[in-house]
Amino acid sequence: AAVDPFVLGLPKAELHLHIEGTLEPELKFALAQRNGITLEHATAEEVRASYAFDSLASFLTVYYDSMKVLQGAEDFYDLAMAYLRKAASQNVRYAEIFFDPQAHTSRGVPFANVVGGLRRALVDARRELGVHAELIMCFLRDFTAEHAMSTLMESLPYKDWILGVGLDSDERGNPPAKFAAVFARARQEGYLLTMHCDIDQDNTHEHIRQAMEDIGVDRVDHGTNALERPELVASLKDRGLGLTCCPISNDWVTGSTKVSDIAALLDDGVKVTLNSDDPAYFGGYVAENYQRFADESGRGREALVQLARNSFEVSWLTGREREHYL
Ligand code: ADE
Ligand code: ZN
Repeated sequence: AAVDPFVLGLPKAELHLHIEGTLEPELKFALAQRNGITLEHATAEEVRASYAFDSLASFLTVYYDSMKVLQGAEDFYDLAMAYLRKAASQNVRYAEIFFDPQAHTSRGVPFANVVGGLRRALVDARRELGVHAELIMCFLRDFTAEHAMSTLMESLPYKDWILGVGLDSDERGNPPAKFAAVFARARQEGYLLTMHCDIDQDNTHEHIRQAMEDIGVDRVDHGTNALERPELVASLKDRGLGLTCCPISNDWVTGSTKVSDIAALLDDGVKVTLNSDDPAYFGGYVAENYQRFADESGRGREALVQLARNSFEVSWLTGREREHYL
């Protein structure tokens, strides 16, 4: 579907974007060749045709398998530069980018390759493209809390390059409470905190409650199911917490974009934002997510402007740059 020029031109912040989820099949082939890896598909079209997800877990299997082409710092640099060029073309002015270091260190890729390559891309993109981006390090919640804690320790020398920490991957049986000590330590170290509370997961309402009340997160990723519990909506509003919603991702993972729920939260005064999550896999970047919201909700420009404003408001920008957008 075509994106309205108004949507494309709207200045936006993107706050829920996994850099590994921006690996387009064409770049995957280029990196496979660089690293001497043979892929199971012959063409980018074949790779795209193979994408068929019906749950978070079925997506994650493909997502992690594709990462084998990411090895050297240069690979992470190219990955991030490709995303930032695309973001610039959609008038994304600021991005807070998730990365999953454990998905790389657990296969023998040094932490320094990951963070070093990503950081260099962010510095170059700010100069060459005028896009400001920062990094959020996510822990894999289906790994142990001890593994997360040792990853947190490994990140400390790079603290100036990492704005906050998040929690992603398979949520089943992995509640926020499992990582209470890790997140408490992360806060002590000066990191801001966010966590995924994915759509329609088991115990999602309890996970949203734990993230807010027990962990004290500064934002909630997804969290759309809060709509079903008035006390969670009230708590989000009292705390001024943003939700990073991802309509096209929701559709792939659950069979619904949840646009009507997102619109209801917006009407209720919750600071919802629109984001792309894993755009190379779900087939839409942030502008396509705004367009999908507009098409399905029937809302006009006023709502889109509010969503874009929310994205800067609940971002972790500070000072004059923040004032500039509000
Ligand atoms: N990792 C990458 N994308 C994710 C998502 N949408 N939910 C949980 N973990 C993820
Ligand atoms: Zn996500």
